[in-house]
Amino acid sequence: MARVLVSGPLPGTDLSRLYQMHQVEVGSSPQGLGGDGFRERLSDHEAIIPFVTDAIDRAVLDRAPNLRVVANCGVGVNNIDLALCRERKIVVTNTPNVLTDATADATMALILDACRGVTTGDRLVRKGEWKGWAPTEFLGVRVTGARLGIVGLGRIGKAVSVRARAFSMVVAYTQRTQLPPPEEQALGVVYTDLETLFAQSDIVCLCCPLTPETRGLVSRDRLLRMKKGAVLVNTARGPCVDEEALAEALQSGHLFSAGLDVYADEPRIAPALLRCENVVLAPHLASADRPTREAMARICIEAVLTVLDGKEPPTRVA
Ligand code: DGY
Repeated sequence: MARVLVSGPLPGTDLSRLYQMHQVEVGSSPQGLGGDGFRERLSDHEAIIPFVTDAIDRAVLDRAPNLRVVANCGVGVNNIDLALCRERKIVVTNTPNVLTDATADATMALILDACRGVTTGDRLVRKGEWKGWAPTEFLGVRVTGARLGIVGLGRIGKAVSVRARAFSMVVAYTQRTQLPPPEEQALGVVYTDLETLFAQSDIVCLCCPLTPETRGLVSRDRLLRMKKGAVLVNTARGPCVDEEALAEALQSGHLFSAGLDVYADEPRIAPALLRCENVVLAPHLASADRPTREAMARICIEAVLTVLDGKEPPTRVA
């Protein structure tokens, strides 16, 4: 029987198999233990299930000399010191595929909301400030036919591009490696370099992982090089964006609006962003439809059981 530490409650998940076979502890906060909580609780545990917001760094890993598997509840693994896990032969798994559609759906929701001002309008209506229909008010960015630039055409980026085509958008993408032309044609997307994508898109959408290359990618300079009146949407990771510079670009009116699901220092939101009316601030919910979150939890549990059984898990990343 191995000791397993789960960051917090998992949705709709039958943990009985895990409980039957191992000694399981589950953190009580819905937001999880955080890196500090893991550091305090870990000792001879052989498996952990962290959330994407738990920093599984050297300080945490040093507390768990028997650790065999880190089953991350999420697809992004930037919260984990992968190099150290590899060095210590700790298996790391994530939850790809199952959250692709939910995340792409939420990305479209943010694109539509940021362009058409649904949330801004809702705030106004609730404050009793809506005076009635007027041809000059709530003039948004036209979504149909807009030029969408996707940074990172992985699984989620591709799923966004498919949805965007239903809105007759012209979709350009950039990433390290260009897709083979037949795949580009099938998706109806055009490869472009990063600078052209920022300069020419009506809507720039981040669907990339957080890596040293993408940290700070949406810099002040790049924001200024975006088209006047353009829109930025981020469902990737907060540190990809310079939030102070974004707030300035929103306040000056250089950008029409933004839709954000992720932040540099969650759950803290940069005060400058909170002061902007023209940004939709979602609480990191892009993967949060019920079947998706339940599937993510199942994958984590299966990964733990598989590794503790001495087998290879299907979603291994390190
Ligand atoms: C992930 O899986 O990386 C998401 O950010 C969780 O919603």
